[in-house]
Amino acid sequence: MSLQEVEESLESTEQNNSFFEKAVRLLGLPACKAFLRDGQVMPVNFVPYGGVVTTPARQTVARLFPKTLAGATLMLAADGANPRPRPGLRVAALFSGGPASGGHNVIVGLKRILKGNTLLGVRGGPAGLLAGDLFEIQDGDLPRLANTGGFDFLGTDRTRIRTKEQLGLVENICLKHSLDAIVIIGGDDSNTNAVTLAEHLFSVYPDGKGVQVIGVPKTMDGDLQYGHHLPVSFGFDTATKVYSELVGNILQDTLSSRKYWHFIRLMGRTASHVTLEVALQTKPTVTLIAEELSWQRRTLRSVVDEISHAVITRSASGKDYGVVLVPEGLLEAIPEVGELLEQIDIAIARHAADIAAMPLDQRARLIAEQLDADKSALFRSLPGYMQETLVADRDAHGNLRVSQIQTEILLGDLVTARVAELSSDTPLAINHHFFGYEGRCGVPTRFDAAFCYNLGLTAGSLVLDGRTGYMASVTDLDKGGVPVAIPLPGMLHEEERDGKTEVVIQKALVTQSSPAFRFFAARREQWMRDDRISSPGPRQLWGTSADQLPFTVALNQGYDSLRFRF
Ligand code: FBP
Repeated sequence: MSLQEVEESLESTEQNNSFFEKAVRLLGLPACKAFLRDGQVMPVNFVPYGGVVTTPARQTVARLFPKTLAGATLMLAADGANPRPRPGLRVAALFSGGPASGGHNVIVGLKRILKGNTLLGVRGGPAGLLAGDLFEIQDGDLPRLANTGGFDFLGTDRTRIRTKEQLGLVENICLKHSLDAIVIIGGDDSNTNAVTLAEHLFSVYPDGKGVQVIGVPKTMDGDLQYGHHLPVSFGFDTATKVYSELVGNILQDTLSSRKYWHFIRLMGRTASHVTLEVALQTKPTVTLIAEELSWQRRTLRSVVDEISHAVITRSASGKDYGVVLVPEGLLEAIPEVGELLEQIDIAIARHAADIAAMPLDQRARLIAEQLDADKSALFRSLPGYMQETLVADRDAHGNLRVSQIQTEILLGDLVTARVAELSSDTPLAINHHFFGYEGRCGVPTRFDAAFCYNLGLTAGSLVLDGRTGYMASVTDLDKGGVPVAIPLPGMLHEEERDGKTEVVIQKALVTQSSPAFRFFAARREQWMRDDRISSPGPRQLWGTSADQLPFTVALNQGYDSLRFRF
């Protein structure tokens, strides 16, 4: 090859055309058997299975979403080809919330199954829907989308749709574009938007016809689960495999250099599914599971003591190194800190107008004065950088922006001080890491790629079958996959947000009785003592481990294999 050819070859990799991206675009997309007729994908019909889905908030849900609830109470499963898929429909699809790997394959699945209908993309998430920023997706878009990471084809945002004005705007957009259906690809808050829209658009046209709304379960946090009916959300597998590679590499470094402790915070919001999965993949020295700290009602001091004792004990056997995995939602889960955050939320809501333009240090001082004495003392005991983070603005859904809280630095500082107090001659050198955005937009694993494609086929089939208020899902991931649909109203529950009770889609958290947690709990002592690390390496798209399911999913679903099959 001449220098000029090398340069030309390099130039050809611009605009998402790396040799890797070119190769992954060519990988096949397996469909569940239910969708296949003579080698072609075809829409399926849905029939009830598994009974009525109920919620503890049934009365409130019945009051707020009567029309959707009347049509969407039963679990549905695919049952043969749809004999009369409706032609000529106009369907809009949008991404909502944080990006997650595989989203582009949902679009590919939708476009293929909705053949003979028009698929419109909404640019910029829910805000783009409110602004009416729609365009037609063409067959020609598919080859470059297939198997690529990110949400950049459509973009995304976190706008919450709930006010009368917003609902009116969406209604006008539906009428203007003659929409028959909207597919919302999002997490728990985005699917709360979906059920709100399903209700509002139920019979929006003058002839009483409505706009169907279907949700697709996305979030790298993995906290959108519904027992057997929804084993996992898309994006979780890719994110955890990216983080596992990095954590595995760091563990290998600790064993080699033998002089550092690494405090690693992992994205995942309130739930610790990501941290638990990465722990099972890599076997770190100490892993904190936020939910466990909550159900054990642990204090911040006791968590710091636990890590400090691990540092001192290992040092006594010559191991002045280790890795601590810290879930993003750790602070919220410690009851005394959780209560402190609730009081801060209320104080922020009460003083919203006064504090809007206030510098954060001043805001922290004002908020400290509004807290109960014990919470104020806890708040004032935190370093200034942490106080300022905790009083910063919440997101549009009222959530604390946990990704901005440097919990790993706080824990590192507190552990350094505590180890010095307990054993001043124990050496302790800490490095901090936050693995978050690294994992959300990578080229999807084979599982996320195939899962997303089938979620797109399922969501499109639900539209063609005339359903509304449902979430698309695929079960039995180890046995070929079964397309199913979960009624969104049944997934709602009541939750405190910004000091108010709201009806939202319920997050699935790590539970004490789950097989994945029990497996981890039975082994962590040994991992702490004996360095039984494993380094899973980069996610595999070809070869023997390319079909590996997340370990937590295989364990919790009771699968008899670690491999997915579609
Ligand atoms: P979703 O629930 O919308 O999928 O968000 C996932 C997530 O990556 C969380 O893990 C993280 O806490 C948050 O988004 C970060 O939000 P932002 O993108 O606004 O920084």
